[in-house]
Amino acid sequence: MTTEGLIIDGQRTAASDSGTFDVLDPSTAEPLAAVAKATGADVDRAVQSARAALDSKAWGGAPPAERGRMLFRIAQAIRDRAEELAVLESRDNGKPLRQARADVQVAARYFEFFAGAADKIMGRTIPLGPGFLDYTVREPIGVSAQIIPWNYPIQIGARGVAPALAAGCTVVLKPAEDAPMTALRLGEIALACGVPPGVLNVVPGLGPEAGAALASHPGINQLTFTGSVEVGILVAKAAADNIVPVVMELGGKSPNIVFADADLDLAAPGVANAIFQNAGQTCSAGSRLLVERKAHDALVERLAARTAAMRIGPGVSDPDLGPIISRRQLETIEGYVRVGASEGAAVVAGGGRPSDAALGKGFFFQPTLLDRVTPDMRVAKEEIFGPVLAITTFDDLDEAAALANRSDYGLVAGVWTRDINKAMALASRIKTGQVYVNTYGAGGGVELPFGGYKKSGYGREKGLESLLTYTQVKNVCVKYA
Ligand code: NAI
Ligand code: MG
Repeated sequence: MTTEGLIIDGQRTAASDSGTFDVLDPSTAEPLAAVAKATGADVDRAVQSARAALDSKAWGGAPPAERGRMLFRIAQAIRDRAEELAVLESRDNGKPLRQARADVQVAARYFEFFAGAADKIMGRTIPLGPGFLDYTVREPIGVSAQIIPWNYPIQIGARGVAPALAAGCTVVLKPAEDAPMTALRLGEIALACGVPPGVLNVVPGLGPEAGAALASHPGINQLTFTGSVEVGILVAKAAADNIVPVVMELGGKSPNIVFADADLDLAAPGVANAIFQNAGQTCSAGSRLLVERKAHDALVERLAARTAAMRIGPGVSDPDLGPIISRRQLETIEGYVRVGASEGAAVVAGGGRPSDAALGKGFFFQPTLLDRVTPDMRVAKEEIFGPVLAITTFDDLDEAAALANRSDYGLVAGVWTRDINKAMALASRIKTGQVYVNTYGAGGGVELPFGGYKKSGYGREKGLESLLTYTQVKNVCVKYA
């Protein structure tokens, strides 16, 4: 078994106290690798290195086009190593190989998209009349601290790192303890592509240690967090003590709304994929199905047939459904299904671990449909983060809108209908950061601004909007004769 070092100031290094932690393969519960466990002292070194790189000629002083070229090289290097990265992601996280392959391509796209933007971060001139020249400049915000989760490590890693580097920032990236491997590869690749030491530091470690040390570090200028609401609150409070702005992406309870006039042959796979992709461990998972009563039976029948046909297995065998990330997360999901049943939901598919003995050591859970869910049930309100779909019926558009918005969260919504008027009415009434019509997600959505209303968070990632996160505006006002 290999031991993976931290990446600080361009060097692979052991933790300051030589500590390591084991990363498990969730398909077998066997260790996959030992990884250096960053301490507060390591995080401090990483932040100092990022600061020095920010002020250096090689990075801070480099022309934007040169930064862009480095990012294009990273995109190409990710593509050159795509299969190796996908297999590693699949082993580390458990996701089906084809989903890991797609994630790797999306990661490459982030670097490509923001590479092209690096030399197009422009300011404005503001007319003040004769004798004045007023202009704005978008300067890099500085050292960006990024704390990412285990569900899409290479994708979420790239979605924060690429715009930050394009804007001229430097980064300290803290991967999740459950799946840190591909974030380390990203750090390695950046160095190999000529990104100067200290521009991208990668410090895997435990949340309450490395994560807390990074969030509260007085040397950071910005923080990007993706994870649970609970930890998001801690991180935002720590950053507040240093007046550090935060982008928060905290998941959701996103609805797919299916009208009876929808093409059910399109909606059924769309709804199934939205919840079963990555075993439901997706911030934007479509975990609530709101279906018009007249279409309920036909749609649920189609969904049940799909779940029955899903092949469950280790990610690298490229099944339809891989394992859950950890025993703890598996037990959380089991607990929710029990709660749902006791609240009166009907388990119409799945509901437990698969019976196949060959899967016995891994953290597997069947694709599960909970029908007759009412909006006050915990399974309708709380993020389960597993392959569990909560199904609720509605009778008209007003009820659909009310149910969709009856959530503490507001990340994404899907609307399935052939009626453009219904689609547009809901697109305007639903309180989520993204609304999809007759589709759900858009191949990773690299180009589309993404972020939450309500407790799903604030700030926007992806798309050109995310460059605003990593820049700050300076206004220069010149009076001349
Ligand atoms: P988490 O919020 O604990 O972990 C996310 C990241 O925060 C990890 O890198 C972790 O090391 C770090 N972290 C943990 N405690 C920290 C602290 N005190 N200070 C700074 N950083 C800290 O998420 P966890 O425990 O893995 O999953 C729990 C639930 O969170 C899931 O069931 C799911 O509902 C939600 N979640 C949402 C995600 C999303 O994509 N929005 C991703 C992961 C989890
Ligand atoms: Mg946690």
